[in-house]
Amino acid sequence: MKFFVDTADVKEIQELNALGLLDGVTTNPSLILKSGGKIDEVTKQICDIVEGPVSAEVTATDYDGMMKEAKVLAKIADNVCIKVPLTLDGLKACRAIRAEGRMVNVTLCFSANQALLAAKAGATFISPFIGRLDDMGFDGMEVIAEIRQVYDNYGFDTEILAASIRTPDHVKRAALIGADVATIPPATLKALVKHPLTDKGLEQFLADWAKTGQKIS
Ligand code: E4P
Repeated sequence: MKFFVDTADVKEIQELNALGLLDGVTTNPSLILKSGGKIDEVTKQICDIVEGPVSAEVTATDYDGMMKEAKVLAKIADNVCIKVPLTLDGLKACRAIRAEGRMVNVTLCFSANQALLAAKAGATFISPFIGRLDDMGFDGMEVIAEIRQVYDNYGFDTEILAASIRTPDHVKRAALIGADVATIPPATLKALVKHPLTDKGLEQFLADWAKTGQKIS
């Protein structure tokens, strides 16, 4: 499973990238707002840090507007992946941008049928939002499982990018289902390493080691 980080916070991205944990980054207009920066400058900074796909989202809602914005975003760096919404215009833009040889992430996916449309439009990534479905009382993970089955039934190579992840359990369950990628907020990504028995075990080993009076040198 590939790990993308779901943030536009350049410092967080630098830190996680230095750990060797990042395969890519996803941003959206809300995350750009939170970063306090300009989309072109922030995206450029991120692309200079991370080699993998960096999703930058169009904000136009019509096909022509999306294509115009996609051109601007594509100029920022070769690894910019254009993010378009799951609308009819977004699907049309997805096909056209893919024909130009660019990666496309189709976002705001909440059903297997929507994911099927995105795959038929040639999307590189489909982003089903787990947390937002859970918030509404639906089972976001069930949608991931349905999309996995649909894509496998027909051999689509669109990658399932599990998004709107809120907990380490979301990551585990998406991995068990076979999602290709998880885009994870920085705090949740760091929380994956945590286990109380790891902390307790390490404490014990260090205490016993101190009693030996030895040094590894
Ligand atoms: C990623 O591409 C999405 O924009 C993001 O995961 C949405 O997450 P949220 O529901 O926590 O805002």
